[in-house]
Amino acid sequence: MPKLSVLNLSKSYPNGDSGETEVLDNISFDIQEGELLSILGPSGCGKTTLLKIIAGLLEPDKGEVLIDGQKVELGHNRVGYIFQQESLFPWRTVRENIEFGLEVKGVPPEKRTIAVNEALKIAGMDGLDDHYPHEISGGQARKTEMARSLILAPDILVADEALSNLDAQTRNYLQEEFLRIQGLTGSTILFVSHNVDETVFLSDRILVLSNIPARVIAEYKMELPKPRNRTSPECLAYRSKILDVLRVEQEKAMSRTRQKQTASI
Ligand SMILES: Nc1ncnc2c1ncn2[C@@H]1O[C@H](COP(=O)(O)OP(=O)(O)OP(=O)(O)O)[C@@H](O)[C@H]1O
Ligand SMILES: [Mg+2]
Repeated sequence: MPKLSVLNLSKSYPNGDSGETEVLDNISFDIQEGELLSILGPSGCGKTTLLKIIAGLLEPDKGEVLIDGQKVELGHNRVGYIFQQESLFPWRTVRENIEFGLEVKGVPPEKRTIAVNEALKIAGMDGLDDHYPHEISGGQARKTEMARSLILAPDILVADEALSNLDAQTRNYLQEEFLRIQGLTGSTILFVSHNVDETVFLSDRILVLSNIPARVIAEYKMELPKPRNRTSPECLAYRSKILDVLRVEQEKAMSRTRQKQTASI
């Protein structure tokens, strides 16, 4: 049985003209236990909307999300979420940030300390536990966020462009860290990105979404062993195929915009 099943999700948002903008158009896919599935899509196509629905933060208009074969409802807490924007509490130390979810759950202090020590070790953050977010690097902040999500032992971890806004070197390092941490925890991960190279490096499988409204337009099973060499001919071949799909999608969007402009003249 898949760990997660997304079945026929559709979602529209009201727009300012008392109409609706369709954002997700009948999206379906599965993730297997321990799999790292990436979703690639053009900016603004609906990736964050999709993740919010999966995480129980937003209700779809149609469709459903199953975890271990059971339908989940709005407000469920089986998904750990690494947000697109940095989301550490600036007034709490690294340790206190990681501890937060356990505190909310009412886990007693001694147990929290043991769990946080373990999470700090897994994330490679031990020794930095008393630092505040302004005293650590952007990469360390991302690892703290990862530890904060993992400590709650979620069924699935979703990461929304978790490694954006970092310099290329830190980004590459964190991609390797991401795989190392997944190797230790065996987590099932849904990774959203618009960086093709990153998804080719990390993923067991990649789904490509269309422009808004998002539909699944391509799927690649990544048959390459990890760790991967980013510049190997195999990685570059995947990169080139995926970029071709995205380019065709971009051209379609531009042609639709031109048609609309012509129609309004
Ligand atoms: N709460 C909302 N109300 C109305 N429209 C929204 C809302 N949230 C998002 N949208 C619109 O829905 C579309 C998809 O947004 P979403 O954030 O899901 O895209 P995305 O693929 O994550 O974009 P990005 O790559 O820039 O992060 C966008 O056009 C956005 O403006
Ligand atoms: Mg987004």
